[in-house]
Amino acid sequence: MRIFSTATELQQELAHLRADGATIGFVPTMGYLHEGHKSLLLEARNQNDIVVLSIFVNPLQFGANEDLDRYPRDEKRDMLVALETEVDFVFMPDVSDMYPESPLVTVKVQSGVDVLCGSSRPGHFDGVATVLTKLFTIIMPTRTYFGEKDAQQLAIVAGLIRDFNFPIELIPVPTRREADGLAMSSRNVYLHEDERKVAPKLQEALQIGRGMIVAGERDVETIRQAVSHFINTHTHGKIDYVDLLAYPSLERIHRVEGQVILALAVYFQQARLIDNVIMDQH
Ligand code: PAJ
Repeated sequence: MRIFSTATELQQELAHLRADGATIGFVPTMGYLHEGHKSLLLEARNQNDIVVLSIFVNPLQFGANEDLDRYPRDEKRDMLVALETEVDFVFMPDVSDMYPESPLVTVKVQSGVDVLCGSSRPGHFDGVATVLTKLFTIIMPTRTYFGEKDAQQLAIVAGLIRDFNFPIELIPVPTRREADGLAMSSRNVYLHEDERKVAPKLQEALQIGRGMIVAGERDVETIRQAVSHFINTHTHGKIDYVDLLAYPSLERIHRVEGQVILALAVYFQQARLIDNVIMDQH
């Protein structure tokens, strides 16, 4: 395993491998790696000759009042995970390498950002799209791996790849969960003990919504209310949103039809947790 902190060196190395016909699997992350990241890395390992992992806490995607300064980091443990999953190259640039000056050109996401996380995190997905445009250009992977846990991000990345003609195959990976159903997240370490105990209720709430849809309920508002009610009665978290949208277009709907996403975000004292379920109704 080799670690690169500058883009040029990594680009040179990958250019040789690409010329020899090697396929490259790329997993972008912000580090503090857990089992969710691991499943992306293992899938990349299975499908490609070379696996590249990037670890970069991207300041462009954090809002002024968000957790950039206290985003959890553990470089040593991340390297162990990378070794364990047989990563070939780790790309860990400094902020000054990725953004030497205030950038002249950034990427703006035009639709699908006025809902879900986009509406409570203005500019967030522009920051994500900008860093991914840079990372895709540096690494030029054959395939890239993204978790369904961040379903809005996944939909936007699909649009970025399509609109900018990146010759990259996007591979979605299902959400990894703790034994009690809580979606794995680097931010779960922020949860207080009592919050950690009730956090699986978020997934339970989504399952209630799913059950209603399976049973034939089609009215979006009725489902949203039932899910919100369950969260409010079983946790002390403050709901940011509970929403049911068409997926992957992220368009608002009144009735459930075709592929939909039921998604939520809930604030606990130090952590904002998200989760979702994507389902197809025909
Ligand atoms: P990060 O939150 O570190 O997540 C990196 C990748 O891991 C994302 O594709 C995310 O969806 C996936 N992931 C996180 N938790 C998961 C889980 N429980 N199961 C499956 N996959 C999971 O997402 C980002 O970083 C950044 O926005 C990034 C894309 C790196 C751009 O800066």
